[in-house]
Amino acid sequence: MRKKIALIGGGNIGGVLAEQAAYRELGDVVLFDVVEGLPQGKALDMAEGAPLVGTDSKISGANEYADIAGSDVVIITAGLARKPGMSRDDLLKTNLSIMKQVAEGVRDNAPDAFVIVISNPLDAMVYTFKEVSGFPKHRVVGMAGILDSTRLRSFIAWELGVSVKDVTALVLGGHGDTMVPLVRYCTVAGVPISQLISPERIDEMVERTKGAGGEVVGLLKTGSAFVSPALSALEMAEAYLRDKKRVFACACLCEGEYGVDGLYVGVPCVMGAGGVERILEVELDSDERKLFEASVDHVKELVTQIEI
Ligand code: NAD
Ligand code: LAC
Repeated sequence: MRKKIALIGGGNIGGVLAEQAAYRELGDVVLFDVVEGLPQGKALDMAEGAPLVGTDSKISGANEYADIAGSDVVIITAGLARKPGMSRDDLLKTNLSIMKQVAEGVRDNAPDAFVIVISNPLDAMVYTFKEVSGFPKHRVVGMAGILDSTRLRSFIAWELGVSVKDVTALVLGGHGDTMVPLVRYCTVAGVPISQLISPERIDEMVERTKGAGGEVVGLLKTGSAFVSPALSALEMAEAYLRDKKRVFACACLCEGEYGVDGLYVGVPCVMGAGGVERILEVELDSDERKLFEASVDHVKELVTQIEI
């Protein structure tokens, strides 16, 4: 019996999610959107291409929440994406009302699902989903740090001319300008990057990571990054579906960890069949702690604007 994956939002990221989830046979895929025909058209096109990749996953489009019934995984991209000149926080008002609607639809139709939120501003949106749905914290997580960490991995690999497979990186905190790339924990085959790259270049890559979303928005002009975010969320979904015990930086509900209580913020966690199985508390030096606390304060300020 194949698992069922519901994708709430059939836009740029939703389309890549549907294609990759189905073509990798992670499960049967339901692509949901409020726009009539959009999810159905994308799903039909992908389904017709299935013979070329050999997948037997079913791919369907939906405009009714009843069609996501019984989903094992729900990935949410419903909402506006930013345009040039906009911050992620500028999306709060519009996406907040969308997220409340989505959370009710998922709560009422897929009450046992593992939920990955992507919509921005991420830390506020995943918090909203949790509050409205009432789902347990291990089944509600935000996709952010894994993407930010992946971007830094790419920059390090390009700088050194090494395989991306041998680069690890860790970015914690909120998914915005205050994110915290932890340079001390970035390595190439276990070798700290501080032994391989000058401090000046490391600083430049850290700044590029923090601005990476905006860099793509500035080039695309019509929206934000969508392939790397989709691939990031699929790593999380696969870790859950295949109980892989992966360690990712994700927006998790902290209840005392890192001195944070009652907020979703990017921290390293172990992801497997139990969802967010546990949060890993890594040691932060005084500078890192200061940056992390400033990032948490920004998330806190954003969340105070939410009325559930
Ligand atoms: P998009 O505009 O291409 O797609 C969004 C889709 O949501 C649209 O098809 C729209 O019709 C749909 N939608 C709107 N209201 C809805 C509702 N009530 N129910 C269901 N669907 C609804 O945008 P995108 O590029 O796919 O990005 C989606 C979101 O993800 C944006 O908020 C963007 O900022 C965010 N994002 C987050 C990250 C991250 O790292 N967390 C990365 C990239 C983008
Ligand atoms: C953006 C994503 C990366 O808004 O969060 O650019």
